[in-house]
Amino acid sequence: MFMANSKIIIAIDGYSSTGKSSFAKLVAEGLGYIYADSGALYRAVTYFAYTNGFIDDNGVVEKIGLQKVLHKIEIFFKTSGPDGRSMTYLNGSCIEKQIRTSRISGLVSRIAEIPFVREYVDEILRKMGSDKGLVMDGRDIGTAVFPNAELKIFMTASPEVRARRRFDELKLKGAKDTYDEVLAALKKRDDIDEHRVKDPLTKAKDAIVLDNSCMTMGEEIDWLNAILKPNFNLQII
Ligand code: DC
Repeated sequence: MFMANSKIIIAIDGYSSTGKSSFAKLVAEGLGYIYADSGALYRAVTYFAYTNGFIDDNGVVEKIGLQKVLHKIEIFFKTSGPDGRSMTYLNGSCIEKQIRTSRISGLVSRIAEIPFVREYVDEILRKMGSDKGLVMDGRDIGTAVFPNAELKIFMTASPEVRARRRFDELKLKGAKDTYDEVLAALKKRDDIDEHRVKDPLTKAKDAIVLDNSCMTMGEEIDWLNAILKPNFNLQII
């Protein structure tokens, strides 16, 4: 039974570019919880693999070599910068910017489908949940990483809406990708995420669906508060 004032784990899964990270960050901030972006760890492994020649531009992975060195690398989050943002570090260097490029976005699903990589990442993620008070977003948080999370949300929106958001984001960063290229890459990523053998992207049976195709962030927070207050005596402020 849930005890009032206990800390909980909130698992937020769903498709890419549904605004999971922005939503999860706001929720964590409003509850005074820790925020963890599990996708950043898959991106960090992909960046490591790419810069060390374990994955080529076509997404072909040299798995035996990668498996040998994976446990020797150190990936962690550290809060830094003037706004206290959580940054991703690889072997002591901040790689937050490097893991957000189109190149890494295009390759990450190939790395995330490898079972030994998922086990490596899961171990790091589960340690973060030992004290609860955590909001984590990803693809398999409610199904595989924290199947006993007190609250599970599955975020979705139409591919076109998601591609438009991603396209606008990339344009702001100065990238040259066209809308059609972004939409095609997004659909390809969905397909790989949904069809991999280990822990594919799927809604947990007990997850609540949030389709934000036509919602503002304020409406999403109101939607969540309407669940948090009666069920957990929590409120995002
Ligand atoms: O959320 P994101 O776009 O940063 O995720 C990057 C990739 O990592 C995406 O292709 C799916 C994968 N991923 C995963 O397989 N499991 C997670 N829990 C989080 C991300």
